Amino acid sequence: MQTIRSIKKMQAVAREIVAKGKTIALVPTMGYLHEGHLSLIRRAKKTADVVITTIFVNPAQFGPREDIKRYPRDEKGDIKKITEVLGKAAADAVVFIPRGEDIYADDFQSWVTVEKLTKTLEGAKRPTHFRGVTTVVAKLFNITRPDAVVFGMKDFQQAVVLRQMTRDLGYPIKFIVASTVREKDGLAMSSRNAYLGDIERWEAVCLYYALSTAKEMVKAGVTDTKVIGSEMRAVIKATCRMAKVDYIAFTEFDTLKPVKTISKGTSCSLAVHVRGVRLIDNMKLL
Ligand code: PAF
Repeated sequence: MQTIRSIKKMQAVAREIVAKGKTIALVPTMGYLHEGHLSLIRRAKKTADVVITTIFVNPAQFGPREDIKRYPRDEKGDIKKITEVLGKAAADAVVFIPRGEDIYADDFQSWVTVEKLTKTLEGAKRPTHFRGVTTVVAKLFNITRPDAVVFGMKDFQQAVVLRQMTRDLGYPIKFIVASTVREKDGLAMSSRNAYLGDIERWEAVCLYYALSTAKEMVKAGVTDTKVIGSEMRAVIKATCRMAKVDYIAFTEFDTLKPVKTISKGTSCSLAVHVRGVRLIDNMKLL
């Protein structure tokens, strides 16, 4: 597997792959890979001839009070994991690890913004976050020229926003969203789980308990999101006394429009601070 750090080299290699008539599947990541990322890489492997995984801790998507220096990193371990998961396909694969100063030159000033979908949920709490995500992913699309891209459902709003961007800007890229991979107790896998100490880790399962409660209530015929939301808050409090719910939102799956009554396609997203660590999760309820 080739590790490429230069944008020019990555562009040249992508051109060569395309010239050989091979297809490319892209898996953009910020590294510190876990089983959730590896499931995206497996999916990419099934989708195209060549898998390009990118590792870039994108400064533009961190807010002023979010510490990018604290973000967990393990480049060597990541490369080993990608090689193992790709098996024979690793021979043709590429890991692209661009340098920050190459992605964002000193005079960088061109941003990609998805207008409406980014005003709600995470976007309402982290106003500059999605602009950073869409800009870097557009750059990665331009550099690697993928036929397909794979994102995880764990970052539900991110997937919806990036799918919109892909459509709006006319990228000829198959957009794949793979299911969330969970730990045995239900906690959604995330690189940010590395911030959790033992007690927090145990309590972090409150998000999954709350979502599962919502799903069970919907199965039992409850459709009022107010009723479901307050039960979810009770479950969170019972599991984690210290938890602070940032939001619990019920939205249409594709448009992220809020709904009062559950119907086909309603999704529930939530963000909770577990002893200072902010976690997000989501589930389609019907
Ligand atoms: O999901 C992530 O890890 C990041 O937001 C992404 C899509 C790689 C952009 O930096």
